[in-house]
Amino acid sequence: MKRIAVLTSGGDAPGMNAAIRSVVRTGVSKGWEVFGVKNGYAGLINGSFIPLGTRDVGGIMQRGGTMLGSARSAEFITAEGQRKAIRALNSVGIEGLIVIGGNGSQTGSYKLSTHGFPTIGVASTIDNDLYGTDITIGVDTALNIALEAVDRLKVTASSHQRAFLLEVMGRDCGYLALMTALAGGAEAVVIPEVKCSPEEVAESISKAYEKGKAHAIIIVAEGSEYNAEALSSYFKEHKDRLGFEVRVAILGHIQRGGIPSAYDRILASRLGAGAVEAMARGDFNLLTGWVSSEIKYTPLEEVVNNKKQIDKSLVELARILD
Ligand code: F6P
Repeated sequence: MKRIAVLTSGGDAPGMNAAIRSVVRTGVSKGWEVFGVKNGYAGLINGSFIPLGTRDVGGIMQRGGTMLGSARSAEFITAEGQRKAIRALNSVGIEGLIVIGGNGSQTGSYKLSTHGFPTIGVASTIDNDLYGTDITIGVDTALNIALEAVDRLKVTASSHQRAFLLEVMGRDCGYLALMTALAGGAEAVVIPEVKCSPEEVAESISKAYEKGKAHAIIIVAEGSEYNAEALSSYFKEHKDRLGFEVRVAILGHIQRGGIPSAYDRILASRLGAGAVEAMARGDFNLLTGWVSSEIKYTPLEEVVNNKKQIDKSLVELARILD
C-alpha cells in the first residue's frame, strides 16, 4: 500500500475534519501518499483528487463541516457510476479508499468493495444510526447543540408558561431526540421507534402544567409519524378542548454546524487512525467503529445489512425523570 484516498460523504458531521487530519497524518507517518477526494462520491466519479500532506490538514480540527466537501450523488448509486469511480481511482494508482460517513456512505463503500476495490469506512453521522458502532463522529456535538436549544427554550417558555415542540434531526432514527430529552429534562419525547399519538403528547403537556411546571418542552424526532408540524396543526385544531397552545422550534441544519466537541475530535482522531492501521495490516471492507470504549471493525456487508437499535427503555426513564 503506497497511495490511498479519503473522502467524506452524506450529511457533514462535526469532527469529520479531525478524521481527515488523522487519516492523512497517520498515512503519511507510514510513508504513504494520501489524496483527498473533493465532494464525496460525486467528486470520486469525476476524479477530483487533491494531494494532502500533513500541513494541508493543519488548523482544521476545530472547524465543523468537512474541508473536502460532501455531496449526495445519484450517479454513484448505479453500478456504472461505481465502476466509473473505480476507474478514476485506478487511473491515479490509488490502492485503498477511506470513506468517512454514515449509512448511505458506507453502503457506497460496500458497493465499491463488491467490485473488488479495497475500502475502509469511518463511522460518522450525527444520526447515530449506523450498525457496528456505539457512537458515530458528530453525535456528541449535535446533541450538545440540541441541548443548548432546550435550555434556551426553557427560559422563555417558563417566563410565559408556554409549551414548545422542539424538532431535532436524525432522519428516521430517534437517538438524538431521545438523548436530548433525557439530558434536557423534557416533558415528553416523540421518536419513530415508539408509537405515540398526539393525544398522548397533549396529556404530557397537561400533566406538566398540573404538576405546577411553568413550561412544557416536547422533543420531536423529525422522522416520527407525527413530526412537529403535524403535532402543531393537531393542537391548533383542538386548542379549545385542550386548553393550551404550543409553539414550534425546528432546529434543522443548525444542529450539524457546530464546533466539534472534544469528544468528537478525539473519537474522530482515533477512528481515522484506526482505519489507516487496518489498511496497513491489509484488512479491508470493514467499518471502523467504537464499541465498548475501543475500536471495533465490522464487515461492511454486516453493517449495511443490519439496523442499529436504540434503547427504548430510555423513553420510560425520560418519562420518570421529567
Ligand atoms: O444524516 C444526517 C442528516 O442531517 C439527517 O439528520 C437529516 O435528516 C439529513 O441529514 C438532512 O439531509 P440534507 O442535509 O441533505 O438536507
